[in-house]
Amino acid sequence: MLHPRLTDQNWWRSAVVYQIYPRSFADSNNDGTGDVRGMTDHLDYLEKLGVDAVWVSPWYPSPLHDGGYDVADYKDINPDFGTLADADEFIAQAHARGLRVLIDLVPNHCSSDHPLWQAALAAGPGSPEREMFIFRDGAGENGELPPNNWGAHFGGPAWHRVTEADGTPGQWYCHLFAPEQPDWNWENPRVADMFDDILRFWFDRGVDGFRIDVADAMFKHQEFPDARVDPATGLGTVSKYEGSPIWDMPAMEGLQRRWRTVADEYADSDLGPRVFVSEAYLPGNRRIKYLAEGRLHTSFNFELLESEWSAASMRVVIDQSLAEHATVGAPTTWVLNNHDNIRTVSRFGKDPSGLDFTRGRDRFDPHLGERLARATTDVELGRRRSRAAAMLMLALPGGAYVYQGEELGLEEVEDLPEESLQDPIWLRSNHTIRGRDGCRVPMPWSGTQPPFGFGQDAEPWLPMPAHWSELSVEAQGEDPGSVLELYRTLLDERRRNVALGEGPMEWDESPEQVLSFTRGDLFRCVVNYGPEPVPVADEVIVASADLLVEEDQVLLPQDAAVWLQLD
Ligand code: GLC
Repeated sequence: MLHPRLTDQNWWRSAVVYQIYPRSFADSNNDGTGDVRGMTDHLDYLEKLGVDAVWVSPWYPSPLHDGGYDVADYKDINPDFGTLADADEFIAQAHARGLRVLIDLVPNHCSSDHPLWQAALAAGPGSPEREMFIFRDGAGENGELPPNNWGAHFGGPAWHRVTEADGTPGQWYCHLFAPEQPDWNWENPRVADMFDDILRFWFDRGVDGFRIDVADAMFKHQEFPDARVDPATGLGTVSKYEGSPIWDMPAMEGLQRRWRTVADEYADSDLGPRVFVSEAYLPGNRRIKYLAEGRLHTSFNFELLESEWSAASMRVVIDQSLAEHATVGAPTTWVLNNHDNIRTVSRFGKDPSGLDFTRGRDRFDPHLGERLARATTDVELGRRRSRAAAMLMLALPGGAYVYQGEELGLEEVEDLPEESLQDPIWLRSNHTIRGRDGCRVPMPWSGTQPPFGFGQDAEPWLPMPAHWSELSVEAQGEDPGSVLELYRTLLDERRRNVALGEGPMEWDESPEQVLSFTRGDLFRCVVNYGPEPVPVADEVIVASADLLVEEDQVLLPQDAAVWLQLD
């Protein structure tokens, strides 16, 4: 019998989706690495938390050069994480609890362990096997130079030269990320056919949809011209300027329509048509093109994740996001945290805390990461602001994403020992940029000592801070003032209150450092960013911090938010 919540085919328009990073969620076999059974074991936790769906970051066989975003087999499970039978069980158990399941599709590149890549290397220049990937002869007299100036996302050139079977230096291949992630050649129809088959393979197993990794990358300009030079590296920039030969090419549209057709083939199945969420760090006006009729359903909206902690900046982001999405009739999503970015608890505890969107400058500041890495962190301040930010996000129209550990108020682990770092950014920047491991540290579940119930006693793949005993699920479940209890209350209210989720919102008049808006006639959210306390006149549903009481007046203090029930 289908869980009643799974009968709603419009679930994705307002869903709160919980991101599981499998390697770091729960380690059921005590080998230091999370696994699929660990995920299944904790579905009761997610049900109680009150989310609507889960998105599982890649769980496929992979040498983990990029944490699993280097896929060696799209139709199997990493043996360190479990088996296909475990995945089937996970999907069935999630559905039994009314939770939808999204998984990750990584279509731009695979792993250098993928059998088709190995075949391409062996087959040599001009072969159909090489046509599956992007091979080019080198420039220079003897082909000793890369075919063009493109830079790779994780540092260095986006081209790598292979050694041919006879031992001579050979052609170059394109990799927008690490060299262990060769890019597929999407001009070859066999690639598209193969991915249709991968989609159906998982849809047939009951997966409700896919998150599409780097959804703006697949097609490249076929003349392979140089990209604009990034003065910092001297290479072609990875930034997504309009007219870039690498990103957001017009051919994306045909592919999106093709995938949509595959997802719609399932319209008559119990679970209904399947859905997509695209990951594309593009300015909003370009990102929402992907959501036009007949293309994709939703797209991550990273504007809150990049915005600084200020009323003005967040208001710009909200207004702009809602206006842009309205033009295509698609719901927006909101994201504060994910496995690629510094956790908000640390970010909002730093100065600066992100981009000021009121200044209208390039929204994709490649130096943001480094500026944040250098600034000192006030974790308590950041946690206080993160609680308020969660209240803002979950009160806004549309859907939202919650990244594992966000609901515990985990901070970025900024002092991981260098020898433990695994992110390819660390390696490829010659150990100058630490990368993203600090937001990927395993989840603390219970107990007083690492690994805090993540596994039993095996050393986790990244070390866990000793003080996380206080932040474990067990510790917070006992504490009504904890971040976890706040998220549970918010998600419970969100499910109960018809004003929340999709639908309109209206701004109230408010002081400059305050955001206040209503949803319908009965619900209001107020966030106070400034030092001046704000009077609260209505009935409080939930507050992110203790309210002040002065001369019979209830006041909302700085860096706090409140949800109110109106008469
Ligand atoms: C996406 C993923 C990131 C990965 C990259 C390459 O941005 O979220 O983790 O490194 O794509 O696949």
